[in-house]
Amino acid sequence: MIESLRDRFSRRRSTPAKRKLGFRPLRAGVEPLEERRLLAAATTISIKPCVQEVTPAAAVILWETGQDCSDNQVYYRVAGSGGAFNSVTTDRNADTKIAEMQITGLSADTEYEFRVRSKAAKRNNGYSPSSTDCWSFKTFPNPASPPSQFTFVAYGDTRTNPTWHQGVADDIAAQNAAYVIHVGDAPETGEGTGYRSQWKSMYFDPATNLLNGVVYSQPTHRPAVPVIPVQGNHEYAGTGTHWYSSYMSLPNNGVSGDAEKYFSFTYGNVFNIGLNTVADDYPSEAPSYAPGSNQYNWLVSQLQSTAFQDATWHVVYMHHPAYTWCQGHSESVNVQNYLVPLFEQYGVDLVYYGHCHVYERYVNNGIQYVLSGGGGAPGHYDRTDQDTTPPVRVSGLFCDATDTDKHLQSSIMDVDVPNRTLNYECYAHDRSLGFTDTFMLTKPALFSGGVLSVYGDATVSATPEGFVTVNGKTLSGLVRASQVTQLRAFGPGADLSGVTAANGFAKLGRNVQLLGSDSEDLGSAVVLLGVNVASAAEPAAAPKLIDAASVDQVMAREVKVSTPAASQTGSLLGGSAGFRAAARAKDALFADAGEELPTLRLRRPGAR
Ligand SMILES: [Fe+2]
Repeated sequence: MIESLRDRFSRRRSTPAKRKLGFRPLRAGVEPLEERRLLAAATTISIKPCVQEVTPAAAVILWETGQDCSDNQVYYRVAGSGGAFNSVTTDRNADTKIAEMQITGLSADTEYEFRVRSKAAKRNNGYSPSSTDCWSFKTFPNPASPPSQFTFVAYGDTRTNPTWHQGVADDIAAQNAAYVIHVGDAPETGEGTGYRSQWKSMYFDPATNLLNGVVYSQPTHRPAVPVIPVQGNHEYAGTGTHWYSSYMSLPNNGVSGDAEKYFSFTYGNVFNIGLNTVADDYPSEAPSYAPGSNQYNWLVSQLQSTAFQDATWHVVYMHHPAYTWCQGHSESVNVQNYLVPLFEQYGVDLVYYGHCHVYERYVNNGIQYVLSGGGGAPGHYDRTDQDTTPPVRVSGLFCDATDTDKHLQSSIMDVDVPNRTLNYECYAHDRSLGFTDTFMLTKPALFSGGVLSVYGDATVSATPEGFVTVNGKTLSGLVRASQVTQLRAFGPGADLSGVTAANGFAKLGRNVQLLGSDSEDLGSAVVLLGVNVASAAEPAAAPKLIDAASVDQVMAREVKVSTPAASQTGSLLGGSAGFRAAARAKDALFADAGEELPTLRLRRPGAR
């Protein structure tokens, strides 16, 4: 027997749980018609609240309702604090079904729990029943205080097959990533009449475990992960990017007029640049990135910025491929001609892109190029062998025909901040394929201030940005002239005319020592960086002890080394036997302050 609306409504009202959800008590004498209206009134949430545009002090919570709403609210507090909830009631999204609420005044690197509710604009509609579910998110850390370790992930081309996208998104959710970069093509048709629903069905819903996390009340609670996409050609579809702009809140630090179409942000010691390369397909609608364009000039300004130079890792991502062998789309000549030279000039480390629904990795002139287009779109045919002709194709995930799922994957980066390493891993979503691609990148230790010793006939100066150069080359540790408190130059022909306060060496004063005294030709320069070694005795014979021709560069700070042969420990700058052995063995020494070097494989002179 079908229960009446009155019976059903009365039973629901009587449960304690529902009373918490903002249902209004039914008035006595209410007519059946009004009851029916109230029953249909509960505002529904069609896209769960996700976190976007996260900074150390702010975050945006975005969700979509099933009805036009006029009263959206976010309640938040520090996770687990048990304190009172703060609230935000300002909705900055013009769409009547999308709530876009920015929370400001937050603490960096802190988890917050939050709940949302919406009230339909139509008379008698109630609030959405979400007031008892708290999700959580975490603010970004201040760049000056990065976490010691974190993970970020790259993926993209998530369109067309929601089941495939869900599988990949679940893989990513298991990584507990701090953030995810998305290389574009989120839905199949992201624009145009009748295609709005694809954002829910192809992008938001399949990625719910990633975008929404696990509610805070659950023992397995997990913060919502910010996914930060660039635009692909499927976001445009030839008619603009209204829905992309409506559903995505992105860093607004591009050029005025191109708001949120390209942007940059920092997480920890990673500087990320998201570019818009859709002009390859829609030149009249998407912003140009040709030399002289607003986007190109903005990119140069980002690459020259202090934030970029201070970061350890430099990431660029976009939609169109710099390099690919894939048979789905050709590589972008514009990317190669306009952008790659900038990447090489300014020291970009990792470049990610999609458009082709394959996985490939190339290495060219020291830059890793990752095609991570396995998020859900139909696979493209690709080969799996390596290519030794630059750009060197070092890895590929074979796809034997279109419409297969063998290409599904994501790219995972584990960052170790103190050790300045980045461990990369890509594995196929289909584990039975047994495919993995891994590598590790390491940066030399940073010079945090102190003595700079230069051996050899070196010319020492600084870039206009204030970074020390030796023989015209910026030191790979990005040493700031302003950090050098003492300069010791041992080469008899050392040129220190560029070492001036005007070049940033303002702390030097009289602490410049030109110690070269003989005419030995030392060849290339050797640079030693040290802290707290002012009292260490510089050996007068140091230039003669170093076979400079066999040393590319040595950089360290307060390093102690020990030789396997003699188990001798000594200060690097003290000119120990260990150091001499290392120098002769052409080892590059990089280590943190005060650290022994268990990973340093000192080879005895003459050993291979
Ligand atoms: Fe595409």
